[in-house]
Amino acid sequence: MKDSENSKVTPWEVSGRVDYDKIMTKFGTEPIDQNIMNSLSRLTGGDIHFMLRRGIFFTHRDLGWLLDQIKKGENFYLYTGRGPSDHTHIGHLVPWVFTKWLQDKFHAKLIFQLTDDEKFLFNENLDTEKTHSLALDNALDIVALGFDPKLTEIMIDTDRSGLLYPQAIKIAKKITFSTIKATFGFDQSANIGMIFYTSIQSVPAMIESVRAGKNIPCLIPYGIDQDPHFRIARDVLPRLGFLKPASIMSIFIPPLSGVEGKMSSSDPNSAIFVTDSASVVKRKINKYAFSGGRTSVEEHRKLGGNPDIDVSYQWLRIMFEPDDAKLKKIRDDYISGSLLSGEMKALLIERVNAFLKRHQELRERAKDTLHEFLAEH
Ligand code: TYM
Repeated sequence: MKDSENSKVTPWEVSGRVDYDKIMTKFGTEPIDQNIMNSLSRLTGGDIHFMLRRGIFFTHRDLGWLLDQIKKGENFYLYTGRGPSDHTHIGHLVPWVFTKWLQDKFHAKLIFQLTDDEKFLFNENLDTEKTHSLALDNALDIVALGFDPKLTEIMIDTDRSGLLYPQAIKIAKKITFSTIKATFGFDQSANIGMIFYTSIQSVPAMIESVRAGKNIPCLIPYGIDQDPHFRIARDVLPRLGFLKPASIMSIFIPPLSGVEGKMSSSDPNSAIFVTDSASVVKRKINKYAFSGGRTSVEEHRKLGGNPDIDVSYQWLRIMFEPDDAKLKKIRDDYISGSLLSGEMKALLIERVNAFLKRHQELRERAKDTLHEFLAEH
């Protein structure tokens, strides 16, 4: 789906400077307005995650309805996922950090889908052994983020085919080939697994209702690129007697190369992986992070920098500086010229490395507890 001349947002490709207002109109999603913020705040005792305050999570479907259900005492569950094509990168963490906050606030069950089948079907260079081992590797990051093992079920698709397949075929039967072509833009060379795949990603949006034998509302947090799958799910599930899933969607953390597209594994110098060492992080940010600074220190001191195109600042805003007052000071100092772009990078390097040091320890420890998350519950 083209957003403007040079921008594209699909589940497989995000490129160009994304206009998020236009995306909302095109995808038919709602902005997160003050009413939604107020309802959320009432339910969380006044706590609003910085990703909401800053519009990182900026759009939704049926969130107002879901919050009303919660207010009435209705149970709901969370669902999110990952397609294991490589190690996890910082961009993937955006929806997961936010999902963890939702789980903590609402004590909600989370289904986390790892679509090793998807990555096998969509990637010429990956075999099923590789995608399955990457799913296990990525699962360590989910555990390391601190999700509650009693409330979190990680589903690796090829391990859970007995659960997923009988539901996926019910969904697949309601989706025509022409809908898939129109939604995803596949041509005649697409393999038939790709055409079927969206039905697999739809199953967790209703699986808790299947298990309970009654409808349980579902909320799906994700980066906006995944929305086409859930537009289809929302169309089909009611025709099978299930509720439409509600959703809340985020913008993308940009690649190091500049504030266009999304960070993606396909350009390793433009992404930081959770497994990168401190020296690799330092080198990548110093060498590749696009700067909104001026060409000389003198000019920067005189004219100031532009945080809106400065990737290091954007990473702090989206993920690594939760304190609004500190972020504002960084922004103001950059605009005034008192903070140099090398100093902005140093700030980011320090934050990313502090986060990754802890994360890498936790993902090592996660190997002992992963089985609790993989069990059916
Ligand atoms: P995947 O593995 O491409 O991405 C996992 C999640 O990370 C989001 N994301 C980003 N968010 C912010 N900035 C970025 N640079 C960035 N890159 C990726 C994605 O939007 C996604 O939420 N088909 C899916 C797997 C999946 C799934 C789901 C995702 C299955 N069920 C339910 C979300 C919700 C995929 O390949 O995601």
